[in-house]
Amino acid sequence: MRILVVGSGGREHALCRALARDPRVDALVCAPGNAGTADIAEPRSLDVGDPDAVAVLAEQVGADLTVIGPEVPLVAGAADEVRRRGLAVFGPSAAAARLEGSKAFAKQVMRAAGVPTAAARDHTEVEPALADLDAFGPPYVVKYDGLAAGKGVTVTEDREAAVAAVRASLRGPDDRVVLEEYLDGPEVSLFAIVTESGAIMPLLPAQDHKRVGDGDTGPNTGGMGAYTPLPWASHGLSAEIVQKVIRPTVDEMARRGTPFSGLLYAGLALTGRGLRVVEFNVRFGDPETQAILALLSTPLTDVLTGRTTPRFRSGAAITVVVAAAGYPQSPRLGDPIRGLAAADALTGVDVLHAGTRRDEHGQVVSAGGRVLSVTAIGSNLESARGSAYEAVSRISLAGAHYRTDIGDPSRMRHTAGA
Ligand code: AMP
Ligand code: GLY
Repeated sequence: MRILVVGSGGREHALCRALARDPRVDALVCAPGNAGTADIAEPRSLDVGDPDAVAVLAEQVGADLTVIGPEVPLVAGAADEVRRRGLAVFGPSAAAARLEGSKAFAKQVMRAAGVPTAAARDHTEVEPALADLDAFGPPYVVKYDGLAAGKGVTVTEDREAAVAAVRASLRGPDDRVVLEEYLDGPEVSLFAIVTESGAIMPLLPAQDHKRVGDGDTGPNTGGMGAYTPLPWASHGLSAEIVQKVIRPTVDEMARRGTPFSGLLYAGLALTGRGLRVVEFNVRFGDPETQAILALLSTPLTDVLTGRTTPRFRSGAAITVVVAAAGYPQSPRLGDPIRGLAAADALTGVDVLHAGTRRDEHGQVVSAGGRVLSVTAIGSNLESARGSAYEAVSRISLAGAHYRTDIGDPSRMRHTAGA
């Protein structure tokens, strides 16, 4: 098979690694890719936000399957354009991608489908939104309705900050803000492959660490690390999430005439009153994917096309994000990264690239806020952690920072109110 992977982050490098070891894959293109994907997949330039450009490239490549990594092309209709040209694609239509593209839409679907989620109301005007803010009370949860690259959510005890977030969300005439009830409890990410015939196949549950600093401090980021599976979770957790969340959502989307296919990512809070959906995404999560795919033992194309139920090797996987100086506010770019080969040489370690490129001398330099996803597997979480942090210590990047508590059992959040 010839495969086109669209995107340029750690998630796409992980997808490319898994595809490169799939015996069915004989040609791999990653557009635009990064310095890591370029070692295993042919790089092509691409404006990922342009659905036509994605479809034209799929045609040029002669892709038997196009795998769309990020949400922006999906929400813009890239999967529809590829399908319209008669080519196979992994990813939902624009109509189904609204589950991520509009938080208010996702709430409507969940309400109709009886899926447990935080109580919420949405507004287009500041005054009624502020009145509602006080009706919900602190901690305040304020969300910009549309895509915001992980920056659209404010969770705060501070009313002034919540008011500022409401105002910031309602700048333009088409803007909408969602206010919702605060959910207390550990967060879990469950990804499910949804086939075009509506079959659902969950992957391993994972936990993402969204705050920039150790002990869940500082601002939210795109994700600073993840681990899988969850040693503290009940055995039936995935089945419960499929039954209460994924199945009813997939059925409701089909009932509306906008069936979902691709990957449905449920971000959940396990509250004292049961599980609640925090958000839906319509694509593989980053960095959870890096850890999950490290344990996948089934060929990835078989999983994406629904031919096989995904299976995983035993043990654990962890990914630690190495971020650029200044991330998440204003990452500094263009710094040389050294020690990559020494880190990658460790047993069980895979140094996945995210924001990297090669400069004119062939040196790998930083080119994004999240620079690397250092991923390791082990027979258990402790050994995977040891390997990942040993690898991180071999890498040098001026001003880089990373969390030291990814997958640390004493710091894992697994009980409500902890
Ligand atoms: P989202 O982009 O919707 O996943 O929100 C980003 C992060 O904000 C989540 O991972 C949670 O940590 C936090 N968050 C979102 N909604 C809520 C909520 N209703 N209650 C508590 N925390 C939330
Ligand atoms: N891990 C969070 C995300 O992919 O949105």
